[in-house]
Amino acid sequence: MADLQLKTTGSSRTVADLPCPPGLPLLGNLFQMAPAKLHLTLERWAKQYGSPFRVQLGTIPITVWTQVDLFQTVMRERPHLYRRFSPIESAMTELGGNGLFSAEGAAWEPQRRLIMRALSFSNIKAFYPTLSAITERFLVRLQTAAKENRTLEMTDDLKRYTVDVTSTLAFGEDPHTLEQERGVIQEQLALILPALMRRVTALFPYWHYVTLPDDRRLARAMVEVHRYVQKMIERARERMRQSPDSPPHNLLEAMLAAHNEPDSTVTDELISANVLTLLVAGEDTTANAIAWALMYIAGDSSLQYRLFEQSCAALGESRICPDYDSLKHLDLCEAVCSEALRLRPVAAIQTFEPLTEVCLGGVALPAGTRMLFLTRPGMLDPQNFVHPEVFDPDRWKHPRDPSDGVHEQKAYLTFGAGPRVCPGRYLAGVEMRLVISMLMKHFRIELAIDPAEIEEISAFTMVPNKMPVRLHPLT
Ligand code: HEM
Repeated sequence: MADLQLKTTGSSRTVADLPCPPGLPLLGNLFQMAPAKLHLTLERWAKQYGSPFRVQLGTIPITVWTQVDLFQTVMRERPHLYRRFSPIESAMTELGGNGLFSAEGAAWEPQRRLIMRALSFSNIKAFYPTLSAITERFLVRLQTAAKENRTLEMTDDLKRYTVDVTSTLAFGEDPHTLEQERGVIQEQLALILPALMRRVTALFPYWHYVTLPDDRRLARAMVEVHRYVQKMIERARERMRQSPDSPPHNLLEAMLAAHNEPDSTVTDELISANVLTLLVAGEDTTANAIAWALMYIAGDSSLQYRLFEQSCAALGESRICPDYDSLKHLDLCEAVCSEALRLRPVAAIQTFEPLTEVCLGGVALPAGTRMLFLTRPGMLDPQNFVHPEVFDPDRWKHPRDPSDGVHEQKAYLTFGAGPRVCPGRYLAGVEMRLVISMLMKHFRIELAIDPAEIEEISAFTMVPNKMPVRLHPLT
């Protein structure tokens, strides 16, 4: 048994010893765990039962944890000792999307290397002029809406931006969804994560036996998505045939080049799965993080003014942050997003399973025990962040003065940690600075509804149910 925590915590308990909310015979807590509110239900139980506790999905026990040190331990001991929940891999395989996020074992490392290179610091810096041009197109779209006095559903508009960015960076093709109204690929992509959430939390793979309306819609969407991905791959192959001597310009071309090498393990299926993975991972997370930040900005006029001042100073005469180096003057723009992600982590639940029997936090966990870690409780713990309930972007300023109070960076697990930490975090940081500074320089933003009407929804990522915003032009 891998004895990770036993020495410090004394004798071990078993999973069956863990406290569990009362449920129904045979079904356990199944009907108390509506997928759309799962993170809120588990956070409430964590307060009541402490960590770890257990929930029963029928006869399957699922352990739920909040301790930051254990979260860190598990994340760092991947991929050899822990993996993500196995239903994620099987659900993504069925959807043709078993790429970097869901890959495990020997299949994970080579994919990680390719994608890390594509999303590296230096690549994003080289990509900056294109990123800035896409942000300019986003501004044009927003100015048109503002002129027409339209209320914008910001989560949708932000997803157009993130899809155009991810596709251009990773696949060398800009789908221009910012310039289209209907028929964009986001309409189909939007069904994937909620479906993943339903399937990962299902008692058994019911969709193998009955097809519900949601599953029919998903199947139709997946046909469209795969057609879209295949066409993009064919166009990239054609570009490479036209210029056989030029090096790969983006992730897709790098994967196609790796596929052509002798004894390559990069299959067509794997290329397609990673295109899909990046489209989904790059779209939803950053767009919703910025949307949550806008909710806080709209509710605080003095913060909005400070962001305006910072943006005007950094952008000067330019409409968009003029160059990569000027991004460093937009730290408050990124801080509001970091702070929004602390209070509203878009990855609110992270899933693991031990690959062998382990002892964690004094609990003996057989191989395959399902583990859910909740991201937010550690970030709302006063031992980790001073006045944790307060939205305070200034807590992210550098350098921090010790008299500012506790700020435990290790508890900020919104991008994960260890070998599988989010490879898209630099790109997300640049997108956040670019979009917030563009918005603040050109508009005063106002939420079109009472913030109390905005609900958190668990759709694999944790998203707002709506974020309607009115933009008032400043010039
Ligand atoms: C605010 C934005 C984002 C947040 C909060 C976020 C969060 C996360 C989290 C929590 C994980 C799991 C990390 C772990 O297991 O330790 C993850 C993994 C991943 N993210 Fe992100 N992400 C964001 C943006 C992006 C972007 C922009 C991309 C790509 C364009 C991306 C691609 C991925 C991929 C491919 C993985 C899987 C990595 C692996 O398993 O090795 N993410 N992300």
